[in-house]
Amino acid sequence: MKRVFSGVQPTGNLHLGNYLGALKQFVELQEDHECIYCIVDMHAITVPQDPKELKSHILDVASLYLSVGVDPKKSIVFVQSDVPGHAELSWILTCCSYTGELSRMTQFKAKSHNKESAPTGLFTYPVLMAADILLYDTDVVPVGTDQRQHIELCRDLATRVNNTRKKTFVVPEGRYLKEGARIMALDDPTQKMSKSAENIHSRISLLDEPSKIKKSIMKATTDSEGIIRFDQENKPGISNLMNIYSVLSGKSLSDLEKEYEGKGYGDFKKDLVEITVDALAPFREKFEEIRYSEDLIRILKDGAERAGAIAEKTIARVKENFGLGL
Ligand code: AMP
Ligand code: TRP
Repeated sequence: MKRVFSGVQPTGNLHLGNYLGALKQFVELQEDHECIYCIVDMHAITVPQDPKELKSHILDVASLYLSVGVDPKKSIVFVQSDVPGHAELSWILTCCSYTGELSRMTQFKAKSHNKESAPTGLFTYPVLMAADILLYDTDVVPVGTDQRQHIELCRDLATRVNNTRKKTFVVPEGRYLKEGARIMALDDPTQKMSKSAENIHSRISLLDEPSKIKKSIMKATTDSEGIIRFDQENKPGISNLMNIYSVLSGKSLSDLEKEYEGKGYGDFKKDLVEITVDALAPFREKFEEIRYSEDLIRILKDGAERAGAIAEKTIARVKENFGLGL
């Protein structure tokens, strides 16, 4: 069985875009892969975090993984900082990386704004990500296309080490989410739905109450034509809503066009509210059940133990190949 590794940062509540773009795949992959899903808290501290909030977000994201169907009997779910191998391997890989290649990372350029005071952690963020992946001899990494450059760096580092020393790492493949899985903001369909946008009606969080879901969808930007037709370029608003409708209901876009022929956006939106509320209700229910339970802590501790056992073997091999330690 091929091994899968992926991680999500514990920053803010996850939204419909995260679910349809990432988490839904995590759940599907666990049927025929050995999956390891991580809450990458050490990546989160590359920008300032309030300690209490960070702790709470870690447990939120872990609960959301489980609420949407990641099954701890099939997959390993754990918190990055609970396995020391991530930090250890990250340092070793830092010593194999070039400042030039890290300077070219677009995420670093976007987040550091060319400032002298940009945190060094932001600069070495992709090396820690490479360590996450290589620590588990990962074959496949499901991520958004925004992570492509980081995955390529990870592959470069693995290949560089393998070529200059004994073969040490499995060179992983990225598994990129389809463009169709890109969910756009409800208030501005030219932007990606994101955790950080100021307007809460731009996104549907996985834990939103039905009344909030209704408000956000009914307010969603469309166009003045009033015809339900998929045309991403000229009708990005209704096309985004149709996309969401289609993935949540399993109906094709052309079936939706037929079903809503002669009807208005109001009717379409009302039905989409119902479908979205019904799709998210079980997640909210499960979340309430698990978030404050002892089970959650037990699952994460067990996950860290299982992940730690794999990581220890990799670290021993890497240290041996680098001549580190006794
Ligand atoms: P982030 O929210 O950026 O930490 O991303 C976590 C995961 O969700 C990544 O795999 C992203 O590619 C995916 N993701 C984030 N926003 C969206 C979106 N609007 N549509 C589809 N996938 C998304
Ligand atoms: N950088 C990824 C993101 O922002 C999160 C991440 C950290 C990750 N380590 C990883 C994803 C390892 C996949 C594999 O989405």
